[in-house]
Amino acid sequence: MSSAAQRREPAAHLGSLAAPGVDSAEWIWRSGRLQPWGEATIHVNAVGHASVAAVFEGIKAYLAEDGENLLLFRLEDHLDRLYASARICRVEIPWTRDELTAAIVELMTANKASDDTYIRPWAFPEGVIREQMVPAGVRCEVAIDSWPFQSGFKREGCRAGVSSWLRISDAITPPRVKAFSNYHNGRLALMEARENGHDWPILLNDQHKVSEGPGACIAMVRDGVVVTPALSSGVLESVTRSTALTLLAEEGYEVEERTVDRTELYLADELFFLGTAWEVLPITTVDGLQVGKGVAGPVTEHLYELYFSLVRGRSGRHLSWLTPVPVKAHG
Ligand SMILES: Cc1ncc(COP(=O)(O)O)c(C=O)c1O
Repeated sequence: MSSAAQRREPAAHLGSLAAPGVDSAEWIWRSGRLQPWGEATIHVNAVGHASVAAVFEGIKAYLAEDGENLLLFRLEDHLDRLYASARICRVEIPWTRDELTAAIVELMTANKASDDTYIRPWAFPEGVIREQMVPAGVRCEVAIDSWPFQSGFKREGCRAGVSSWLRISDAITPPRVKAFSNYHNGRLALMEARENGHDWPILLNDQHKVSEGPGACIAMVRDGVVVTPALSSGVLESVTRSTALTLLAEEGYEVEERTVDRTELYLADELFFLGTAWEVLPITTVDGLQVGKGVAGPVTEHLYELYFSLVRGRSGRHLSWLTPVPVKAHG
């Protein structure tokens, strides 16, 4: 079959980060104030440079069981990673953690967020840049966007394929940094995966060991042990990955962070992606080979239950990971 014949759209449940029908929020937070969403523009000259040196985060707030609060999940850890990305890229964020936390709450309130909400803060160089490379120490703007997303276990899962594109590496363009420019690599792999009839790619690193997907980490279950590539395998230091390892260890599962061979993916009993956006997403085929029974396996299901009772505040555990934003105040 030609690749054009194999090309297909991914299943509807694997599409956008936004809930169906979402256009834009009313407000965006930009450098200290709320601005009408449609007016949050930059000069066309800045477009390329602004993204070359831009770092960002993807954060979710889940509606609590009682419907009274939105719970920002592991906000502090996401902000830590934003500052870590900025430090590595020598981008100076002129706002403190407390100021960014207040800004996120202010934005959610202004946008009357009353259901599951995705929050994207990003820092980008300010003004028109005429240098060939964006120099270190350039003042940065910070903007924060937010929009509703639709959560839920994608039990039917996705089909993954190992990419011929290798993951960027620490010595070239560090994947530990959450920078927009890193997503060029993921996009190339994604386009190839779609050409080949898969939903998502899995990238190998420069040592040809398993790294991650274009927007999520990966884990497998083999002989009852949960295994995920080590943080030195060329992956983002994922908040969801660390959450999953903690929750599973607390439940008594054996968990391992180590180098993973490609062929181990073919022998896995369960495989799943882990990320803020994809949450816990089962992988049902890898390179056309069925994983387990071809549906979400028992550990994946269990993790999903643990994860969602945590993020919605149902489990009453790890409460320090949840920052409540009252819905009633603006709902
Ligand atoms: C490349 C990449 N890996 C992993 C992840 C998962 O990270 P987190 O769980 O912190 O969202 C993401 C999510 O944005 C990502 O873009």
